[in-house]
Amino acid sequence: IVYRSVLLGVIFSVVSSIAAVILITLATRPLTLLSNAVEKMEKGEYPEIGEIKSGDEIGVLAEAFRRTSRAIKERELMLKESEKRVRELFERVEHAIFRLDKDGNIIETNRKFDELCGGTRGFYDLFDDIQMEDCLKKASNENIIDMETRFTDIHGNERVVIMSIYADFQEENAELKGFDGYFVDITEKKKLEEAVIQSQKLDSLGMLAGGIAHDYNNILTGILGYSSLLKNMIPEADDKHKYADMIEKSAMRATVLTQQLLGFARKGKFRMEMVNINNIIKELSGFLKETLNRSITIVTVCEDCLPSVEGDVSQLYQTFLNICINARDAMPKGGILSIKTERYLKQDRETTDYLEIPNGEYVRISIIDTGVGMTEEIKKRMFEPFYTTKEVGKGTGLGLAMAYGIIKNHKGDISVYSEPGLGTTIKVYLPAAGLMVEEKRERE
Ligand SMILES: Nc1ncnc2c1ncn2[C@@H]1O[C@H](COP(=O)(O)OP(=O)(O)OP(=O)(O)O)[C@@H](O)[C@H]1O
Ligand SMILES: [Mg+2]
Repeated sequence: IVYRSVLLGVIFSVVSSIAAVILITLATRPLTLLSNAVEKMEKGEYPEIGEIKSGDEIGVLAEAFRRTSRAIKERELMLKESEKRVRELFERVEHAIFRLDKDGNIIETNRKFDELCGGTRGFYDLFDDIQMEDCLKKASNENIIDMETRFTDIHGNERVVIMSIYADFQEENAELKGFDGYFVDITEKKKLEEAVIQSQKLDSLGMLAGGIAHDYNNILTGILGYSSLLKNMIPEADDKHKYADMIEKSAMRATVLTQQLLGFARKGKFRMEMVNINNIIKELSGFLKETLNRSITIVTVCEDCLPSVEGDVSQLYQTFLNICINARDAMPKGGILSIKTERYLKQDRETTDYLEIPNGEYVRISIIDTGVGMTEEIKKRMFEPFYTTKEVGKGTGLGLAMAYGIIKNHKGDISVYSEPGLGTTIKVYLPAAGLMVEEKRERE
């Protein structure tokens, strides 16, 4: 009996221990699940805890946890999404953005910045005319600074930019945290502005020159007429005949000059007709081949079926001749002079040509030389009347002034590309008149 009751006792206690373990495990399982989930959440995961069937406080807690976990997940996703959007905007804008720490070290830049500055290295050395250290000091004193400055980008192009730098202060103690800055590339805008100023300057010069030339023309008519009369009245053997002849010749030279000035002032006489530019270029090219030094090779490429333009043949011929003579003068040691004609369609958003002509169809005549080229200073002034870099007696500085006036009068425009040592390309644009004009058949 004793043995049996001991056995029963042992069985009972084993069974009750197992039951107790099972009960405890069952009771604490929801808590373990919850604490595991909290641990995961700490690591940045969003755990989904399984169904916890418990009608008591643990069940309520589990439900609250589930809701909190989902809410956090949603909020974090929203945050990430908005961060992504801001980041995309940061990278996409056409402003170069940079963030600096309080000592001026770069901590963050965007795509445009890297494109222009080639990354963060050497940023401080890019600017020619400003000291970044001074700028940052000024920004921390004045909170924000704006300035226009120039720098050479990593491709070696000079760029004009407007830069703003904001000082960033801590809210609690107003201590300097760092700087936010950006710059906008205004090189193209600047060039356009300069082109407008240039053309306004030429317009007013034209008015002035036109007024003078007009009066001179009248005066010269008198001098020329009376000197011819005088010359005819005096016998050739007489010295006075020679003097009258000299007056007449000088007056004639002055008349040519005034005619050129009138051309620039767009007051010359025009005889408008339908013109095929190819005919003019072919005639000019023939003349140049005969007259220019053999060290200059002349290449002419004319596009077939070029639209005609409305213009004055002799004035247009004179214009292209002036440009070609400049090309000759730019190549004293010889070189290549290419003349090309083509149809050109001017469309919206032209960024490379600063042409003051409306969109539409044009005939473009390019005259390209491999000569000495021009500096920025010469390029700025080349169309001004009497501007010349040639020796006294070699140039009057009226060739391009006249060309400019004539082309403007034909509602066209001229563009210039030139680099010292690399040669010059002059492009003349004339509006297409739409009609085709028969080309002169060259004789076989
Ligand atoms: N193709 C070119 N290459 C280099 N420089 C040029 C070229 N064309 C013009 N220039 C520069 O522009 C200046 C003005 O040219 P423009 O034709 O008006 O006057 P010019 O040739 O000096 O004198 P003119 O034509 O009256 O005899 C020139 O003196 C020269 O410095
Ligand atoms: Mg000239």
